[in-house]
Amino acid sequence: MTNFTFTTTPKIIFEPGAARRLGVIVATRMKRPILLTDKGLVAAGLIAPVLESFTSAGLDAKLYDEVEADPSVARVHDAIEAARRHDADGVVAMGGGSSMDTAKLVAVLVKSDQSLADIYGLDNVNGHRLPLVLAPTTAGTGSEVTSISVVTTEADEKVGIVDDALFPDIAVLDPETTIGLPRHVTAATGIDAMVHAIEAYTNVHRKNPVSDALAREALRLLSNNVVTACESPRDTAARANMLLGSMLAGQAFANSPVGAVHALAYPLTGIFHIPHGLANSLMLEPVLKFNALAAAPLYAELGAALGLDASGSDEARSSAFISRLMEIVNATGVDRKLSQVGISHNDLPKIAEDAMNVQRLLVNNPREVTYDDALAMYTEVM
Ligand SMILES: NC(=O)c1ccc[n+]([C@@H]2O[C@H](COP(=O)([O-])OP(=O)(O)OC[C@H]3O[C@@H](n4cnc5c(N)ncnc54)[C@H](O)[C@@H]3O)[C@@H](O)[C@H]2O)c1
Ligand SMILES: [Fe+2]
Repeated sequence: MTNFTFTTTPKIIFEPGAARRLGVIVATRMKRPILLTDKGLVAAGLIAPVLESFTSAGLDAKLYDEVEADPSVARVHDAIEAARRHDADGVVAMGGGSSMDTAKLVAVLVKSDQSLADIYGLDNVNGHRLPLVLAPTTAGTGSEVTSISVVTTEADEKVGIVDDALFPDIAVLDPETTIGLPRHVTAATGIDAMVHAIEAYTNVHRKNPVSDALAREALRLLSNNVVTACESPRDTAARANMLLGSMLAGQAFANSPVGAVHALAYPLTGIFHIPHGLANSLMLEPVLKFNALAAAPLYAELGAALGLDASGSDEARSSAFISRLMEIVNATGVDRKLSQVGISHNDLPKIAEDAMNVQRLLVNNPREVTYDDALAMYTEVM
């Protein structure tokens, strides 16, 4: 067995109703928190009880609800300024990956001399991070258990910041907060989480036995519950299984990073603002088929997570895995074609060029992806 290192969030609270006592949970770490979220969460009624719990716990909290989906550099700077104005001594996020990723950057930069651009890439964060508590409301990015934050630059490129300083002190998972998640967000974020599990399992450099075990269980939970969560949004068991599955997938890929599905999805978000999960859903099938040439034995193993029979050749089981997974994806009702999201044939060369810049993720993929390969995969889903 090869050596590996595995890191995760030190404290994880998984508890229906935990959001209503978030004040008590964070009060051990901070007195003047800034709460980062977006307007969708406020409109869904999820933020008022949290603010009440902050007041009851004696905290002087400031709400920042201007987080944007797939956060831009400018909006992250705006959030940092808001935290400075409040003289925040801790950062809390309640929301999806966009709120949590913004909160991570606020927590490391608010008291720092470094600029956001200084910390792009791997292990570039110096200095002190404010206490950080993350409560996911999508299931989801798994950002509550990853050391990753993703921002969109002025040049429409998605850039990753990866550093152990970005693990929060506490992750608070309250499945009740995901009940009102709209169907299309449930589908897209649930498929994103399944992609995290699959890509962690096939990483060529950092695949490790802990991530493997987490990825298999994550994929089992997610694939068995995503359609129910879409069709019966108030099914609390399905919602809890999705939130747990997305967290396990997050732990898996935080230590065995994602590959070409994410790399090819990035330009769709950077240039066309297609939500992250939807962009992954669109690229999933062509990348799995492309990778199967190298990854068939691993896809065959993952078939068990979808309840598939373990007999037959690796190639046959790998094809069965891809077919069954795409049946599940289709049953969620998520868009499947780039033309459905406003992308035309003429856009593809620029998209494929941008995907080639995402070497940070492409190096993890089981097969090398050239520009021509990328263009062919985009063309397949036009
Ligand atoms: N840090 C990581 O490890 C990691 C991993 C994957 C993706 N990401 C990043 O995360 C971002 C995407 O995050 P996301 O997919 O969670 O979506 P999101 O945070 O952008 O939220 C999507 C939408 O869902 C709404 N919403 C969220 N929870 C809700 C709820 N419970 N009820 C009603 N509405 C709700 C929000 O208001 C928003 O409009 C991207 O920027 C992506 O790059 C980060
Ligand atoms: Fe993702």
